[in-house]
Amino acid sequence: MFDFKYKLFGRSKGRKRNKNLILNNLDEFDFNIKKDLNKALFNILDIGSGNGENAIYLSKLYPNARIITCEIFEDGNINLINQINKLHINNILLFKGNALQLLDELKKDMIFNQVWILFPDPWPKKRHHKRRLINHAFLNYIYNFLKDSGRIMISTDSNEYVQLMFNLIYELKHKYKWENQNYQTWNYEFLDLAETKFYKKALNSNRKSTFFSLKKI
Ligand SMILES: C[S@@+](CC[C@H](N)C(=O)[O-])C[C@H]1O[C@@H](n2cnc3c(N)ncnc32)[C@H](O)[C@@H]1O
Repeated sequence: MFDFKYKLFGRSKGRKRNKNLILNNLDEFDFNIKKDLNKALFNILDIGSGNGENAIYLSKLYPNARIITCEIFEDGNINLINQINKLHINNILLFKGNALQLLDELKKDMIFNQVWILFPDPWPKKRHHKRRLINHAFLNYIYNFLKDSGRIMISTDSNEYVQLMFNLIYELKHKYKWENQNYQTWNYEFLDLAETKFYKKALNSNRKSTFFSLKKI
């Protein structure tokens, strides 16, 4: 599907050794497609879940939903498992790998009620633009995995990514309805959303974060 299939550009391990690495249940919450895929559930996919703040937030907001996180960054996954242990959360499962691999393994099945991608890596340099996760092909592809009226939620603090989103929304207007078309509803600060690490980073640097909610037509 993608010519850069499964190639990873970000960091998968932290610079410093994670002091929380010693966990005796590192694999307990692994998402196993054969065992854990249940289309009848309210399924939420959180791509690039980072430290897991959004997954934790969603697990409380939707206690009956199944939240599947997808993250290549080992320290992020460990932080999330720590929180799952601490808070006794029972509706989050982790896919510790590349989202594109997970999607390929799921084989274009209409599984998800919601797909979240908060603060995808912006790759600002022009020569790196093709590394961006979100593009026309990706939004077209992920459409196949959404249930009827399913939603994809995206946020970014990169002006360039916002521009890209506007272009994609226009190009794909026959596939997705852009639901939050005014300032009050696209300004991340005004919304009840998870305060993720990258949202806080943006806030501390006075960068505005924009939120997009796209509904499958
Ligand atoms: C800028 S961080 C945002 C993390 C988190 N969503 C937040 O708001 O704090 C982007 C994350 O996406 C992850 N990522 C990038 N490409 C990915 C892919 N193809 N599959 C899974 N995770 C990916 C990176 O490892 C990184 O942790």
